[in-house]
Amino acid sequence: MRILLTGAAGKLGSQLRQQLAERHDVIDTDIVGDVRHVLDLTNYADARDLVRRTSPELILHLAAWTDVNGCALDPNKALLVNGVATAHLAAITSQRNIPILYVSSNEVFDGAKDQPYTEVDRPNPINPYGYSKWYGERAITEVNPQHYIVRSAWLFAHGGGNFVHAIRSAAAAGKPLRVVSNEVANPTYTDDLAAAIAKLIETERFGSYHLVNQGAVSRWQFARAILDKSGYADTPIARISRHEWQRPSLPPEYSPMANIAGRSLGIELRPWGEALRAFLRAEAAA
Ligand SMILES: NC(=O)c1ccc[n+]([C@@H]2O[C@H](COP(=O)([O-])OP(=O)(O)OC[C@H]3O[C@@H](n4cnc5c(N)ncnc54)[C@H](OP(=O)(O)O)[C@@H]3O)[C@@H](O)[C@H]2O)c1
Repeated sequence: MRILLTGAAGKLGSQLRQQLAERHDVIDTDIVGDVRHVLDLTNYADARDLVRRTSPELILHLAAWTDVNGCALDPNKALLVNGVATAHLAAITSQRNIPILYVSSNEVFDGAKDQPYTEVDRPNPINPYGYSKWYGERAITEVNPQHYIVRSAWLFAHGGGNFVHAIRSAAAAGKPLRVVSNEVANPTYTDDLAAAIAKLIETERFGSYHLVNQGAVSRWQFARAILDKSGYADTPIARISRHEWQRPSLPPEYSPMANIAGRSLGIELRPWGEALRAFLRAEAAA
């Protein structure tokens, strides 16, 4: 299949590009990085021309402004990049009868539930990043019936710059660690998510999916597991509440997601602890 992949230089995009390349013709694009087409997707004409020129049979739309605090400080830019650019692709794909897969986030939910969110639960975002991703979801679902919405959460990827690396680096530097104990979600390994997406696009079963590693933990429990499995079992981590960790974007308090739709197709990600062990093994071997 000829697949146009946006956000191809990002954490999930670079993994997906690698996995798909074995079976598909991947047309990679991003606003930066080592990709075939460098493009700002907020420009409608450029996005439309790229789709015209490359004639993809499927678009995997991962590109986003993922700096949640930046989104809180500049909500209009968040809406433009995550919402309006997605609406452009929704219109372009619908006009040309091309299916689209959009990667969204646990942050579309408000965190007020006490059970994992299912695919049919109603989004109610509480911060500008979550709102911009929900806007993107709606733009796609309202305009292009041939869509997959894939929500995921707390991605950890090789290449640095995420929670796992931050916790390990702080422990290695002997810095005191304070981590929030009352924010809960599903840590998810990008390699597992990429494999799940690669399977999902073979099904042509359009709809909404929650693709996360199984099991929910607090940030504190996740940090504890990272250190315990990385040789820092003796390093203490102070538990703090979410309100003690001041930041521009407050995430939902409880936003684990249940993968019901994916499981019914045989698409399930392993438990997050196993995924973390595999991630750490791969980091050690690199
Ligand atoms: N990371 C998470 O924990 C998480 C959790 C749930 C869902 N998601 C979703 O999963 C997807 C992939 O996330 P990720 O963590 O792999 O993100 P990422 O590493 O930030 O990759 C996103 C890519 O999109 C690019 N981009 C930004 N603005 C663009 C524009 N106007 N035109 C074209 N490309 C643009 C980014 O460039 P710059 O780096 O220059 O901005 C970046 O290379 C996103 O849709 C995100 O919302 C992520």
